[in-house]
Amino acid sequence: MKHKSNSMEITLDSASPDKVQTGVLVLGAYADGTLPASSKKIDEASKGKLSAVLKRGDLNEKAGATLMLFDVPGTEAERVLLVSLGKPQEFKDKAFRDALTGAAKVLTDGAAKEAVVTLTDMEVPGRSEEWRLQQASRLLADGSYRFDAPRAKGDKKERGARKVTLLASGKVSDNAKLAVQRGQAIAEGMALAKDLGNLPGNVCNPAYLAETARTLGKEFNFNVHVLEREDMKKLGMGAALSVGQGSAQPCKFIIMNYKGGGESAAKPIVLVGKGVTFDSGGISLKPGANMDEMKYDMCGAASVFGAMKTIARLGLPMNVVGVVPAVENMPSGNATRPGDVVTSMSGQTIEILNTDAEGRLALADALTYSERFEPECVIDIATLTGACVIALGSVTSGLFSTDDELAEQLLEAGNDSGDLAWRLPMFDEYQDLLKSNFADMSNLGGRPAGSITAACFLKRFANNFKWAHFDIAGTNAVSGDAKGATGRPVPLLAEFLIGRADGRTWGAGQAKTVRSAAAAR
Ligand code: BES
Ligand code: MN
Ligand code: ZN
Repeated sequence: MKHKSNSMEITLDSASPDKVQTGVLVLGAYADGTLPASSKKIDEASKGKLSAVLKRGDLNEKAGATLMLFDVPGTEAERVLLVSLGKPQEFKDKAFRDALTGAAKVLTDGAAKEAVVTLTDMEVPGRSEEWRLQQASRLLADGSYRFDAPRAKGDKKERGARKVTLLASGKVSDNAKLAVQRGQAIAEGMALAKDLGNLPGNVCNPAYLAETARTLGKEFNFNVHVLEREDMKKLGMGAALSVGQGSAQPCKFIIMNYKGGGESAAKPIVLVGKGVTFDSGGISLKPGANMDEMKYDMCGAASVFGAMKTIARLGLPMNVVGVVPAVENMPSGNATRPGDVVTSMSGQTIEILNTDAEGRLALADALTYSERFEPECVIDIATLTGACVIALGSVTSGLFSTDDELAEQLLEAGNDSGDLAWRLPMFDEYQDLLKSNFADMSNLGGRPAGSITAACFLKRFANNFKWAHFDIAGTNAVSGDAKGATGRPVPLLAEFLIGRADGRTWGAGQAKTVRSAAAAR
């Protein structure tokens, strides 16, 4: 099954908005009728056309609302797309993003092949022009994503803008260009993560993930190694193997080694992604309703692939290892039974009380395996618990960490990228809930604090390095009419890795900034 996601080419220019020849010129307007610089210029050139339209009230005041205008005098553009910026006093990160998302939607569905976007020419409190450009390029490129579903009579006609120019204020600096490239590379990583998530379980199985890793490695020149079931057995990965043993699809354990920092002594950052390509629940079978959405249970792995693609595309000078235990959780005569006891690679034994709490089993061995890289830190990403969806919904990913500094950096990366996360506790008191009469621990903590007990389970395998864990069960995909993978948390991971590569200063005091920024929303 072939799939090809759309791509949008984004460039940066510093022309005057009234002089650009293009299919659509995208202009912002505040809810009170005030206009940012570029829009004002067009308003003057058109002898007050924009002001007149705004006065009539046709543009909804909500940030991101749009109105297409034709034949606007004083411009060289075929169309003008007005985008609401909301109230000026409320114009912060969210309104800025909403405006770009709104514009992206129209550009992606519209007839124009090219567009010029001026939405980065207004101040966002506390943000630089580079931040605006990176965000804008990411949001526009990501907004153009479409999954070409396999259909007998598909609508394969290319529509929407393929080329978008962002207008910079004044001269185009190298930093501004870099910001646009970064945004586009992040969108590319997200597109890969979305593609993998959206593919059905009968296509995107453990072998498919392994193949994807090999292809990525070839394209970007990094080393990929895949452990087969026998290799995993030799390493003693009894926990991960127990998840896949009921499936006809053999388990794969994928290692991607990106050495942008050269063979230098720099310790790698290890990203571990839950790669359950379908989670039926196993013998503890899930109810039938919406079970199709368990094809998304490899979205943690997908975000690792996406982040690897982004950093490799940008050639970041750092060392990053991606680790993915790829397994399918199915019921069968070979499947793990509730009550079975397995020995993990760490030597700790686990009583499997519920075969649907399988993600932590796969991750446990992946965390132990990660020790061999002597990592700077290990970050795992997993669609781990339904409880996290209840706690944080689809807005915020759950974050757990044994290291305050790492946690703060990740929260800040989330806030900067708009890919939000929030930290939850892992007090030792919760560990008591994992007690087993027949093994070192059970894989089940009960319904209360389900995300926390899952994280506490993982912590038992993450004692030998700085560690953070993302529960993305609520943020990785959306259901309903717009059903599909979101590509999250690729933006957060990429922001974090780029920040590390830049040698950016974080922490001390910044944590407060993150909290007050969140409180001010
Ligand atoms: N993959 C699921 C978690 C999940 C649920 C992800 C909903 C996305 C949406 C995970 O493997 C699971 O089944 N977790 C169980 C754990 C329980 C048995 C302790 C859950 O959350 O119900
Ligand atoms: Mn499960
Ligand atoms: Zn699962």
